[in-house]
Amino acid sequence: MTNRMKTIWLTLITLSLPLIFTTAGSAAQESTASGELIQEEGWQLVRDNCTECHSSQIIVQNSGSREVWKSRIEWMQDSQGLGELGAELEGSILDYLATNYGQKTASRRQALPAHLMPPNPNL
Ligand code: HEC
Repeated sequence: MTNRMKTIWLTLITLSLPLIFTTAGSAAQESTASGELIQEEGWQLVRDNCTECHSSQIIVQNSGSREVWKSRIEWMQDSQGLGELGAELEGSILDYLATNYGQKTASRRQALPAHLMPPNPNL
């Protein structure tokens, strides 16, 4: 290979590196943005019964206790055309939702303890 050819190759490779990383980055973003359900026991039931009218994104971005999830299902049954699931199926779906998308203890960061705060000039 002539030196000139080497330079051209090196330039091409260097220029294409950012492209490789950009594509990898956007693929990673896509998988979180697509709202994929956590694949734990029962997830197929949710995929099969809960993603007909809306994407799973609306499910994964929500959280709550079993009662909260039950009330959401009842709300969809009362007003959004969701049919009866039957006790067994509903129970399994609620188990999955409450286990994997349970009540968050806190959605906000706790305040810093006083000794970690910057000094307050007004005190
Ligand atoms: C017959 C259609 C239908 C089916 C099937 C359905 N949903 Fe929904 N769901 C809706 C509609 C309509 C909304 C409101 C959508 C919106 O606000 O854009 C909704 C909203 C939601 C919300 C958001 C509620 C909120 O408080 O913002 C959650 C969570 C949800 N559904 C979960 C589920 C789960 C879990 C299942 C399976 C048991 C399910 N959905 C099946 C129609 C359905």
